[in-house]
Amino acid sequence: MKILLIGANGTLGSAVHSALRKRDHQIVTASRSGSDISVDITDPDSIRSMYERAGRVDAVANTAGSVPWKPFTELSAQDMRDGLTGKALSQIELVRQGSMLMGGEASFTLITGVLTRDPVVTGSVASTVNGAVEAFVRAAAIELPHRQRINAVSPTVFAESMDVYGDLFAGFQPVPVAVAADAYIRSIEGRQTGQVYTM
Ligand SMILES: NC(=O)c1ccc[n+]([C@@H]2O[C@H](COP(=O)([O-])OP(=O)(O)OC[C@H]3O[C@@H](n4cnc5c(N)ncnc54)[C@H](OP(=O)(O)O)[C@@H]3O)[C@@H](O)[C@H]2O)c1
Repeated sequence: MKILLIGANGTLGSAVHSALRKRDHQIVTASRSGSDISVDITDPDSIRSMYERAGRVDAVANTAGSVPWKPFTELSAQDMRDGLTGKALSQIELVRQGSMLMGGEASFTLITGVLTRDPVVTGSVASTVNGAVEAFVRAAAIELPHRQRINAVSPTVFAESMDVYGDLFAGFQPVPVAVAADAYIRSIEGRQTGQVYTM
């Protein structure tokens, strides 16, 4: 398959890239810097030009997205807007534009995270946007055109990220990022749709 992988240089993106490469897929990478295609997924025009450059693909795998981390009492309205743009509206726009351009059997795999179901202090924006994306995935699955599919990968903290997030996720059991990468393979190569893969 020809697969458009967004966020390919990140912790998760690198693991997905390596899992896809092992399975002989053709991979086109995208991110703001250092990839085949430069894209800022928070900008709909940038997404449009990414799809123009990538051409028709069999699967879109997104591993990019960011949210502000702040105590709830310090959150501004702009912080919430930034989170919605950075991880929810950006991913929804990837699917909205992509669904019109891609072939009948294309799939979309989005990223959410454990905070949807298991909140931590300073993570309220992340919890909110992850929940929005998971609701979107279930809703879009029954309306995508042709036989297109959509799933979300919703991992707990990665073992590889514990040096950054370990204090926030005290008592959580981290998973190797390769486990989340496997869920991308399940989404891309399988036939399931509307699923949220948790780990
Ligand atoms: N790390 C964890 O433990 C963990 C656990 C569960 C869920 N997640 C979720 O997984 C996702 C990836 O996390 P990560 O730890 O792999 O992050 P990361 O290492 O910071 O990687 C993020 C990747 O996305 C790209 N990117 C970021 N913003 C972008 C934008 N606006 N447009 C295009 N590309 C963009 C970055 O490259 P450029 O900077 O060059 O654009 C980079 O390649 C996040 O949504 C995170 O919430 C992470």
